[in-house]
Amino acid sequence: MTNARTNAPEELVIRGVHILDPSSNLDGISDIRLSAGLVNEVGKNLRGPRYLDADGLYLFPGFVDVHAHWRTPGREDEETIESGSAAAAAGGFTSVVMMPNTDPVVDKPVVVSGLLRRIEKESRVRAYVSAALHEGLKGERLTEMRLLQEAGAFCVSDDGLGTQKAGVLRNAMLYAKSTRLPIILHCEDHTLATGVVHDGIAAALAGLPGSPGSAEDVATATALVLAAETGAKVHVTHVSTSLSAALVGFFKGRADVTADTTPHHLTLTDELVSTLEGLYRVNPPLRPDGDRLGVGDALKSGILDFVATDHAPHDASEKDLPLEEAAPGFLGHETAFPALYTKLVQTGKLSLSRLVEAMSSSPGQWLRGKGYGISPGAPADLTLVDLSDEWILREDSLVSRSSNSPYLGQKLTARIVGTMVGGELIYNGLGAKFGARA
Ligand code: DOR
Repeated sequence: MTNARTNAPEELVIRGVHILDPSSNLDGISDIRLSAGLVNEVGKNLRGPRYLDADGLYLFPGFVDVHAHWRTPGREDEETIESGSAAAAAGGFTSVVMMPNTDPVVDKPVVVSGLLRRIEKESRVRAYVSAALHEGLKGERLTEMRLLQEAGAFCVSDDGLGTQKAGVLRNAMLYAKSTRLPIILHCEDHTLATGVVHDGIAAALAGLPGSPGSAEDVATATALVLAAETGAKVHVTHVSTSLSAALVGFFKGRADVTADTTPHHLTLTDELVSTLEGLYRVNPPLRPDGDRLGVGDALKSGILDFVATDHAPHDASEKDLPLEEAAPGFLGHETAFPALYTKLVQTGKLSLSRLVEAMSSSPGQWLRGKGYGISPGAPADLTLVDLSDEWILREDSLVSRSSNSPYLGQKLTARIVGTMVGGELIYNGLGAKFGARA
């Protein structure tokens, strides 16, 4: 991990802001003093040489996204570290894990160290590198995980492809365990995942080839059984079916396992494939409402630990195509919080505090350890939000280099107005109004 910025002001007091951090039992209007890049004090009537009046705004621990494709190296036309991290900052994210399905794949120490150098120069947020679990993500030869770790990789993953052979995955878990590297698993059985959308009524009506939910469930079950046996630290990413979520629940306490789901699997369904638009192709595919609700319940109860976006930028030439020919994936960073707030919190399906926990302290603790949250001495990684702002997502306002968002044209509530990393304002959504006063 690295973060280039060191321009934080020596001291800043944010006044009259609603601080919400369930991990620190904070939920109320207060002042907060930031000093030397850290949270210094939370309390009433704080004074300081510089201050910001934040009446009516909410302050959360900085959001953390453990699943992003910044397309570097290889497809910088779709996203770069600069643009990906700017999009993350605009979405309130202060830490991000970059996935290794790049060109070249992040399967050699030199690729890891090259990425870390670029992150140091270009990233606005704290960026962590996931190296590959297998050479070329092929699920055959293990990568040299120990050397990848020494070069600075935070975790390993073959994301984009599931490991197809249980024996190979078991060996990968044993090796990863010996290095203590967490594994992020994309669970998909390719003998079952032969279609381009979920295999259900919507696929049948649209005449599209489907992949059944079992393509994910079978692979998830295999991964969890092996995790329990080997003791490896396993994170199951983008869980999209009720059964996979239930399997994760069964293995909690039996394996060192955590899991996430995505904003799109929580808010969209496979009915969208009736449009036949390539935009709506994603992997795992959008599921029927029963799965969307099941995954939502699992996030609510904590069986699914947190949200991760699977931010997957694609050029228009890969998305403005018939669904069967399009590349899978959606943008995620800029809309994650507003989409979930609008579609789950405002409709009463999820509490604001659980959403905040699932986007900040829960993934933050997975990535950065136990103390992640708003407390004296913690890094001032913070997200400032206006929960009352209603806005329409327009293509020309996206910060990402790509524009494949499934929420384009939709009215969303809640706007990120400021993102701070180590006390430095790395995203300013309020313009001049944000200027802290002396
Ligand atoms: O939809 C997806 N897009 N799912 C993945 O697993 C990979 C990602 C990508 O890299 O585009």
